[in-house]
Amino acid sequence: MDLSELRIDGKRLQNTLEEMATIGATPGGGVQRLALTDEDKQARDLFVQWLQDLNLKVTIDEMGNIFGKREGTNDDLPPIVSGSHLDSQPKGGRFDGVLGVMGPLEVLRTLHENNIETIRSIVIVDWTNEEGSRFAPCMVGSGVWAGALDRDWVYQRTALNDTRFIDELERIGYRGETATTKWPIHAYYEYHIEQGPILEIERKIIGAPKGILCLHWYDIYLEGEANQVGPTPMEGRHDALCAAAEMILKVNRLPEKKGGNLVATVGEIQNYPNSRNIIPDKVHFTVDIRSWDDVHALNAWYDLRRDFEVIADQRGCPINIEETWRVEHARFDERLVKRVLDTAEELEHSNLYMFSGAGHDASYMNQIAATAMIFVPSLDGRSHVEVENTSWKDCEAGANVLLHCMLKSANETG
Ligand code: GLV
Ligand code: MN
Ligand code: MN
Repeated sequence: MDLSELRIDGKRLQNTLEEMATIGATPGGGVQRLALTDEDKQARDLFVQWLQDLNLKVTIDEMGNIFGKREGTNDDLPPIVSGSHLDSQPKGGRFDGVLGVMGPLEVLRTLHENNIETIRSIVIVDWTNEEGSRFAPCMVGSGVWAGALDRDWVYQRTALNDTRFIDELERIGYRGETATTKWPIHAYYEYHIEQGPILEIERKIIGAPKGILCLHWYDIYLEGEANQVGPTPMEGRHDALCAAAEMILKVNRLPEKKGGNLVATVGEIQNYPNSRNIIPDKVHFTVDIRSWDDVHALNAWYDLRRDFEVIADQRGCPINIEETWRVEHARFDERLVKRVLDTAEELEHSNLYMFSGAGHDASYMNQIAATAMIFVPSLDGRSHVEVENTSWKDCEAGANVLLHCMLKSANETG
């Protein structure tokens, strides 16, 4: 068979994605499959079953990462790896992550039914807790695997109700035996929706990011003084929520103040005791800062932290700052990025060289292996929301680009 003629089955990919989307389906048309919940377990179980249906060798490691391996003709050569994540945001979408796991699954189904052998083995992977929404930070499965994060630190991370990561990993039965340790990889491809508006604006089907912004996460804890809201005069209050409000606006204005390539967001807040007639005495909120320039992001943070300290002082609300997590910007392998663009061209799909504002497991994989990503458009540029959508046609196009990129890498002997 002329390999260049080979195509994945778009309808089968659609059916697979639709079946996955029933797990944790939300009334608004999205999914809620937070890491290590029962819904995550159900999605994992189905994925493992599909791996076994293809007679792949399934391995589950100590972080709950799930690998499915299809042997090549020369298993001495480092394999090709492709994957992403099955967990989602709260009220998240049906494509973020799961497309990057079902895409390579469809690639392997296509190779299987056409009896196509590759020289190198191919491994597909579901990384644990990419979203970091229930247990911060994100990308911990790939982070530990790549040697950038400490397994035991991640095990002890807690959700809002103080449940530990390790206890939930065990509870859903996905604490595997295999050590979470990197092994040599020839090429890592991650297929993903863009999660932004650029491909749609530029009217392109395939995006090849040159890399991913740095991500810096902080947790801010403020202490105030609780009191009855009626009798307590406005002067002399120590209102932790008002201090937080001032700080949150500083975060929002940070990119304008600092200029350059920068976005900054507060996405999560807890207010205590959260009663309309008690002055708040405890607030926790998060800060997310991203840039292509790691130093710029750090300097912006130092500036912001000084503002936080001044506000905390003025309001008499002691502040405690946790510098929770940082991952540096990732510049992908130029050869593989070019391969994505060239392959899109060969398949007659319009394409664009761009960058990724969203974080991906590819960021950590890029630290240890030649890495590239394949993006397809997000309708109206919406993601991390229930209405997140990508046309089936574009899902198919991206999967075909993935197929041919994987085939080219899998048949390289050098
Ligand atoms: C990952 O989903 C991110 O926060 O970009
Ligand atoms: Mn994702
Ligand atoms: Mn996401």
